[in-house]
Amino acid sequence: MDVGNHAAEAGHVPVMLGRVLELLTPAVESAARAAAAAPAAGREPVYLDATLGMGGHAEAMLRAHPRLRLVGLDRDTTALERSARRLAPFGDRVTLEHAVYDEIPAVLDRLGLPAVDAALFDLGVSSPQLDEADRGFAYSYDAPLDMRMDRTQDLTAAEVVNGYPAAELARILREYGEERFAQRIAAAIVRERERAPLDSTRRLADLVRTSIPAATRRTGGNPAKRTFQALRIEVNGELDIWRRALPAALAALPVGGRVVVLSYHSLEDRITKQVLAAQAADTTPPDLPVPLPEHQPRFRLLTRGAELPSGEETTTNPRAGSVRMRAAERIREAT
Ligand SMILES: C[S@@+](CC[C@H](N)C(=O)[O-])C[C@H]1O[C@@H](n2cnc3c(N)ncnc32)[C@H](O)[C@@H]1O
Repeated sequence: MDVGNHAAEAGHVPVMLGRVLELLTPAVESAARAAAAAPAAGREPVYLDATLGMGGHAEAMLRAHPRLRLVGLDRDTTALERSARRLAPFGDRVTLEHAVYDEIPAVLDRLGLPAVDAALFDLGVSSPQLDEADRGFAYSYDAPLDMRMDRTQDLTAAEVVNGYPAAELARILREYGEERFAQRIAAAIVRERERAPLDSTRRLADLVRTSIPAATRRTGGNPAKRTFQALRIEVNGELDIWRRALPAALAALPVGGRVVVLSYHSLEDRITKQVLAAQAADTTPPDLPVPLPEHQPRFRLLTRGAELPSGEETTTNPRAGSVRMRAAERIREAT
């Protein structure tokens, strides 16, 4: 491991770590009790970390639960290489897979795992992805417009910016960036790229700044933030993947199994909220006099609304500033 990675790991604090462990522990402990009661079944508790990143949450879970097996996924091969080194001391308790998290059913199938007892999604990009200038995620560095979490995929931010029609660009900026000047920015991008392809984060950030009204440039942080968020979501297909992935992960949880989700913007948190609420609802048609067993909730929510980190955590860990946490436990088998 190089010194840079080591320093990054040492300074990296997993978001809401104590609360994540607290919420997932009952699921691991009940699976461990079941395993002890039926050793012939040979199934140890399994923790699925669907967004392994630097392996911070994963390492803490493995330390806290000595019989826990980890299945860790990431779409970023650099993240997997780093976590593999970090988690090497846990030996064969660790299985790491290069996968996008909507491939969870296929991954579990391949590993011969019918279920996982605890699952964590710490969504979005990691601190190293943001800090490595050449990844092109940050408007604060000048770099090629890339923004791919998985550098083996084809679509880059440069292709979106230089290839999409103006109307499509405006839609992405409006929907994924919640940018009120979406149309103006899209028109400016199209004008600029006709002169020369827009290929750097700095040129795009400057263009966004000059294309919005002067009075709004001074408020609400860097004006390029929303455009960069929108492009990142588009390049990585984040929302469509998340809509498919969460139900697939819930389907893999047995009764007593738990999921925790950390979201960093309202769009992904809204999907999380809707999917969990649908699973926690009694869907008996309202005109029936008695609740039907097969319409009873399959999950119970473990958080009241979205939980936020403590004020202390947000001052010491800037990444925690925008996090929203939701969690749920399966209480009934799927029918
Ligand atoms: C916020 S970081 C996770 C940090 C981690 N919890 C830790 O403690 O180090 C998010 C990670 O999820 C990965 N990721 C994001 N979207 C993904 C997806 N759809 N499938 C798989 N991995 C994804 C990113 O590459 C990144 O490494």
